[in-house]
Amino acid sequence: MPLEVRNIVAGYTKEVPILRDVDLTAQDGLVTVILGPNGAGKSTLLKTIYGYIRPQEGEVRHDGTSLAGYKPKDMLREGIAYLIQGHSIFPRMTVSENLELGAWIMRDDRQRMAEAFEEVYERFPRLKEKRTEPAGVLSGGERRMLEIARLTMTRPKTLLLDEPSVGLMPRLVDSIYEEIEKLKAARYTILMVDQNVKKSIEIADYVYSLQLGQNAHEGEKHAFEQRLNEIVKEWI
Ligand SMILES: Nc1ncnc2c1ncn2[C@@H]1O[C@H](COP(=O)(O)OP(=O)(O)OP(=O)(O)O)[C@@H](O)[C@H]1O
Ligand SMILES: [Mg+2]
Repeated sequence: MPLEVRNIVAGYTKEVPILRDVDLTAQDGLVTVILGPNGAGKSTLLKTIYGYIRPQEGEVRHDGTSLAGYKPKDMLREGIAYLIQGHSIFPRMTVSENLELGAWIMRDDRQRMAEAFEEVYERFPRLKEKRTEPAGVLSGGERRMLEIARLTMTRPKTLLLDEPSVGLMPRLVDSIYEEIEKLKAARYTILMVDQNVKKSIEIADYVYSLQLGQNAHEGEKHAFEQRLNEIVKEWI
């Protein structure tokens, strides 16, 4: 069952709601992209889904379960992992320690932990090579790979990605999108916020746009693509 966001009103203070009646659905195994101008509330929406912000109204449901009252620490067990906007690795800890942090909910299950490491190192040989080095020595692209690899350690069902390619060189941007396509092929449900409108629509199945904390447009990839110019014009 999908990730459903139903009529969410939420913000950082009660007086000024940032999200005003936002409603969207991320279908199982598909890539759903959220676009919108700076300040539209895209990151705020992901924070609300993940329990950092408690909605004043509305509800988030994941796989048929209401997430009302869930805290961020409950989300991995619920099968949701979140790539926050900006950098989230610990540069002084080693690559493998950073990966282990992504799997803290299964820290007592050595077998499962070993399997998760094996799988990640198979997919990301560079991370294997550098597993005992401080994560701070990784290149920008490798760091982002580490962040993405860490999300998959516990094999969650759903991934929330906030600007996965931001700040990377064009060549590395492409490799991040390739990685997201692989995650889709591995049947993850992906809800992604992105500034890179063209690229993210390429890998999207369904697209939403937010403006001023409200739903603006939505549609299947191709339908959305056709109206893209007119939609982006509204942002300026
Ligand atoms: N921690 C915070 N406290 C108070 N207001 C905040 C906080 N974070 C964001 N805001 C405000 O909430 C609004 C939406 O911000 P948000 O970060 O969700 O936008 P966004 O769509 O992700 O933008 P961007 O594309 O720049 O990342 C903005 O007006 C912003 O100033
Ligand atoms: Mg943001």
